[in-house]
Amino acid sequence: MKPIVMAGGTGSRLWPKSRAAFPKQFLSLTSDQSMLQDTLTRLDGLETEAPIFVCNEAHRFIVAEQLLQAHLQHDGILLEPVGRNTAPAIALAALHATKQGQDPVLLVLAADHIIDNPEAFHQAIKDAEQLAQQDKLVTFGVVPTSAHTGYGYIRQGGAINGSSNGSQVAEFVEKPDLPTAERYVKSGDYLWNSGMFMFKASRYLQELEKHAPDIYSVCKAAIDTESQDLDFVRVDAETFADCPSDSIDYAVMEKTDAAAVVPLDAGWSDVGSWSSLWEVQKKNAQGNVIRGDAILENVHNSYINAEQRLISVVGLNDVVVVETKDAVLVAHKDKVQDIKKVVDKLKAEK
Ligand code: GDD
Ligand code: MG
Repeated sequence: MKPIVMAGGTGSRLWPKSRAAFPKQFLSLTSDQSMLQDTLTRLDGLETEAPIFVCNEAHRFIVAEQLLQAHLQHDGILLEPVGRNTAPAIALAALHATKQGQDPVLLVLAADHIIDNPEAFHQAIKDAEQLAQQDKLVTFGVVPTSAHTGYGYIRQGGAINGSSNGSQVAEFVEKPDLPTAERYVKSGDYLWNSGMFMFKASRYLQELEKHAPDIYSVCKAAIDTESQDLDFVRVDAETFADCPSDSIDYAVMEKTDAAAVVPLDAGWSDVGSWSSLWEVQKKNAQGNVIRGDAILENVHNSYINAEQRLISVVGLNDVVVVETKDAVLVAHKDKVQDIKKVVDKLKAEK
C-alpha cells in the first residue's frame, strides 16, 4: 500500500495563520509537528511503501524541508504548476505510480486532518485494503455529529462478501445544502466522507477515464512529460493548465458504482476553520482554548491564538482572536466560515 498525500489546498478559512505562501497543512496548529508531518507519522506501525506527495510548485521547499525535518522517507514530491483540485492531483500520483508497470493500492490522505486514535485508524485501513484488492474505491465513513455542509455524505448500502466491516455505497453526495444535510443526519442513514480514499491506482484511473475523460486525458498527457530533479517530479505547465478543475468527490465518487465504505471511529476531525479547531482542542474551565500569551477576563468558549503580542479580551463570549505579525483577526465563533470572504477581498485588493 502506497500513501499519496494531497497537500495542495489553500486553507483560506484559517487566515491569518494560513497564507497563500504558507497554507494550513504546513502549520503546527494542534501538535508540535505540522499537519503534513502528522499525516505521515500517524501511519507509524503500518506496513506501507514510501509515500508520494502532491503539492503546488510554490510550496515545494516547504514540503521538502518538513519531510527532512521529521525524517520522513518518500518516493517523490509531485509538483502541480497550478491547482486543479483533487481529482487531477490524485490522477497525477496514480499515473506516476503505475509508470513502471506497477499497480499499487493507494491510500489517499488529506494533509489537514486530526485523528486521535491511530490504532483504530490502522484497523480501518486494513479493512479498506481488503476491499481495494477487490477493485473497490473505498471511502472511510464517520458518524456525523452535525449537518455540516462542507462534507460529503455517504449512504451505506448492503454488506460486501468477504469483508467484515465494509459496505457498498448506495449514494454519495458531496457538500449538500443545509436542509439536505439536516435531513441526512436526522435519518441516521448517512456517514460523513472523511476525505481519505483507498483503491488500486489502475482502478481509480479507469473510473476517472469513464466519468471525467477530460481530466484523465490531460493528466495522462501531463505525466508523459514528467521530469525529475532530485526529489521533485514536474509536469509540463501548459499541458496541465488545460485540465478541468474538480474534486475526486464530484468527479468520481458521486458517479462510480464501485464505491465502498468502511466505518472510521478514530476521533477524526477536519481542521477546516477556527471553530472546528476550538471544538477539538483542550479547553480550560471557562471553555477557552488559548495558545500564546493572553489575559482574559470574563470570557467564555473562545479561541485565542497569540503569536507575537499579548492578547487581552474582556467580557466577550464565543469569539475567535488570532494575532500574527502583520494581521489580527477578531470574529464571532459562529461566523468563521466567512473568513474566506475576507481573504477574497484581500486577493481582490492586490
Ligand atoms: N495536491 C493538491 N492539489 N491537493 C489539493 C488540491 C489540489 O489542487 N486541492 C485540495 N487539496 C488537498 C487539501 O490540501 C486537503 O488536504 C485535501 O486535498 C482535501 O481538500 P479540501 O479542499 O480540504 O476538501 P474539502 O475539505 O472541501 O472536502 C473533502 O474533505 C471532506 C472531509 O474533510 C471532501 O473529500 C469531502 O467529501 C470530505 O467530507
Ligand atoms: Mg478539507
